[in-house]
Amino acid sequence: MIKTRFTEMFGVKHPIVQGGMQWVGRAELTSAVANAGALGFLTGLTQPTPDDLRKEIKRCREMTDKPFGVNLTILPTLVPRPYDEYMDAIIDSGVKIVETAGNNPKPFLPKLKEAGIKVIHKCTSVRHGITAERIGVDAISMDGFECAGHPGEDDIPNLVLLPAAANVIKIPMIASGGFADARGLVAALALGCEGINMGTRFMATKEAPIHDKVKKALVESDERSTSLIFRTLRNTSRVYGNSVAKKAIEMEHEGKTIKEIGPLVAGTRGKVVYETGDLEYGIWSAGTCMGLIHDIPSCRELIERIVNEAEAIIRSRLERSIAA
Ligand SMILES: Cc1cc2nc3c(=O)[nH]c(=O)nc-3n(C[C@H](O)[C@H](O)[C@H](O)COP(=O)(O)O)c2cc1C
Repeated sequence: MIKTRFTEMFGVKHPIVQGGMQWVGRAELTSAVANAGALGFLTGLTQPTPDDLRKEIKRCREMTDKPFGVNLTILPTLVPRPYDEYMDAIIDSGVKIVETAGNNPKPFLPKLKEAGIKVIHKCTSVRHGITAERIGVDAISMDGFECAGHPGEDDIPNLVLLPAAANVIKIPMIASGGFADARGLVAALALGCEGINMGTRFMATKEAPIHDKVKKALVESDERSTSLIFRTLRNTSRVYGNSVAKKAIEMEHEGKTIKEIGPLVAGTRGKVVYETGDLEYGIWSAGTCMGLIHDIPSCRELIERIVNEAEAIIRSRLERSIAA
């Protein structure tokens, strides 16, 4: 077993997190992660209304008696979402761990703290990590350039980002972006983190509630199979490099407006990809760690494999490499 400040603080067995994933982070996946001893997050905005989120939390509780959390991504969206009401749904439901992302969570912290909720804030830069620590979050999930979804605009991969952040951030930090196996976990610990957060790797598990064709695509693709859209708009998103992503990039370079590109990249089209397995129907998030994904295990198999192999790497390969 690998014990860190993260496992202690959040009361979980393994230093592994399944981060929020729009359309993917539903009760089936999050409860499977929790049952395997890691920390799963339901994705708040996957539920159309705060009441639906209440129901999803209840459904997840019926599937596990272990701790799990809820992700609330507070990005400005084309259609505004009632973030305060989603927070109320989380608080009323008695969830004790929240993952915030996308924007400064300061306005929500007093309410969350009062309810005894621990907050992990997802950042993509050292400076945002410092701010998050200062305003009082409990832990940080640091997302490097490798990650699926929003890597920010600094383009700093984790080999530099994580130790640079660990030099100045004192609260527990989870490494995120590009992690998929035991070597990643050991590296994250060596770089100054207390565990890993994985998105893409958890999509390729038996319990992920998405079409098998999407899981198969993750296995068959490699580290070069992603595209970065919305670079020119400074709202970069790393997605699966399909024809829709390539078309969106082309339109950006032609100077088309977000209003014109919007319908092509709408989240609702991505949702259809997961439901039908039509990989070219819309854009869908995936990270460079596709190059490390070669199978579709259960969450328990994946988590136990990562932790057991990490222990073996530390005990044998690393220990042996020290000269007598
Ligand atoms: C399909 C998918 C959807 C995602 N949606 C969200 C989201 O809604 N909110 C969020 O904070 N992060 C989201 N992420 C990012 C993940 O939580 C995590 O930070 C990221 O996947 C880590 O990089 P990795 O994919 O290399 O493991 C998403 C990732 C994926 C793969």
